Amino acid sequence: MSFEEGKFQEVLSEFAATPEFIREVAANFRQDLQIGLRDPKSSSMRMLKSYVGLPTGNEKGEFLALDFGGTNVRVLRIKLEGEGRYEVTKRVGEPLVLEGKYDYIGKDSTVDQMFGFLARLIDEAIDGDHSTRFYLGHTFSFPSSQDDLNNARLIIWTKEFATPGVEGEVVNDLLLTALKKRGIENVVPVAVINDTVAVLLSAAYKQSDVYTGSIYATGHNTCYLEGSIHDPKGFGRGGMILNLECGNFMKLTPNRFDTELDQKSEKPGEQRFEKMVSGRYMGELFSMAVAELLGEKFNFTAIDMSGIVADESPQLTKAAKILAEKVGRELELADVARIRELAAAIIVRSARLVTASYVGIVWQRAGNGEIQKQHVAVDGSVYEKMPLVKENINRALSELLGEDAAKVDTILDNGGSGLGAAIAAAMAVQ
Ligand code: GLC
Repeated sequence: MSFEEGKFQEVLSEFAATPEFIREVAANFRQDLQIGLRDPKSSSMRMLKSYVGLPTGNEKGEFLALDFGGTNVRVLRIKLEGEGRYEVTKRVGEPLVLEGKYDYIGKDSTVDQMFGFLARLIDEAIDGDHSTRFYLGHTFSFPSSQDDLNNARLIIWTKEFATPGVEGEVVNDLLLTALKKRGIENVVPVAVINDTVAVLLSAAYKQSDVYTGSIYATGHNTCYLEGSIHDPKGFGRGGMILNLECGNFMKLTPNRFDTELDQKSEKPGEQRFEKMVSGRYMGELFSMAVAELLGEKFNFTAIDMSGIVADESPQLTKAAKILAEKVGRELELADVARIRELAAAIIVRSARLVTASYVGIVWQRAGNGEIQKQHVAVDGSVYEKMPLVKENINRALSELLGEDAAKVDTILDNGGSGLGAAIAAAMAVQ
């Protein structure tokens, strides 16, 4: 039996992101930015100072890069060669959770386990060499307050991380303790940056006209170069990069699924924007919406959604298979098509909202003047791999910017988290 059309249309309409809605989101985003520039406490975004501006592109030397903030931790050795060139000379990486084996991010994990794990990966990346000096750049992708480039204090865990004892601490102090315990005293952390900042540094190292960096993955967040902020403790050119922590942006109306998801999450009330758009939550929104149609809840992931939406065949064979595997029975073709439409609507809403936030930044940077030619550098699996995302970003850019859309595009900066950390380290020691 297929589902009732009225019910389906009602659920689907919850995820509509009309041109009026995204225009309003873009305007509110810009306004919240302006409020935050005057007083970060009054904005829903944290607007965190990074103490770094843009690189010159001529940074050189070999550095260690620790990339910590998603499901995998990576440690790289990167040789910066200047003129935007670099070489990764060593790469190690492991997941923070291995089902049935270990979990370093859950409520029952400890600081020692988490940072001991990082120290072990660093040890592997330096091949156990405990005498050569290595400068380390650390991409730590959580909201952290800094008063210089090298010290970052975790304000609050996001993305459902829950290890006790890290919030409120200076993360590189925890790292140094763990390194020392392993007998590593030759690794010197010199810079901590957010992953969005890393993406911006990485893209700006390689090309000009990039002032905004964004992650569109498990989590979502954006940073941009604010030309009006200069600090004697800062490095780099053009002002200072602000990590907006716009996953916490709240000046938009959530639908009833967003509200319910937020209530059930690890940190209700926090990261409302991120919970509407990022990969970590998209599957849950979809599961909740599908549950209303099927009368029973099944846990879909963003990867399932991607598979369902990617199927463009007339019989939707692949989509039907993914659904049948979850649901435990075959669905009628008409219902497979409807569920696919629902998945698409959730993805399209996400892309349109994210674009609205980019446009808010573009407007803010332009002030009363003309919009400059620019690229918004983006990294992350949702941006890179999720069907419908790129074309809907482009469509929304045109809707919001009109003719000026010709001056603004998004570019993939793959692996920027690692490279950016190495660049920040180079900027700190040069
Ligand atoms: C979360 C974090 C933020 C990070 C983003 C992407 O929003 O709070 O710091 O940049 O995820 O990883």
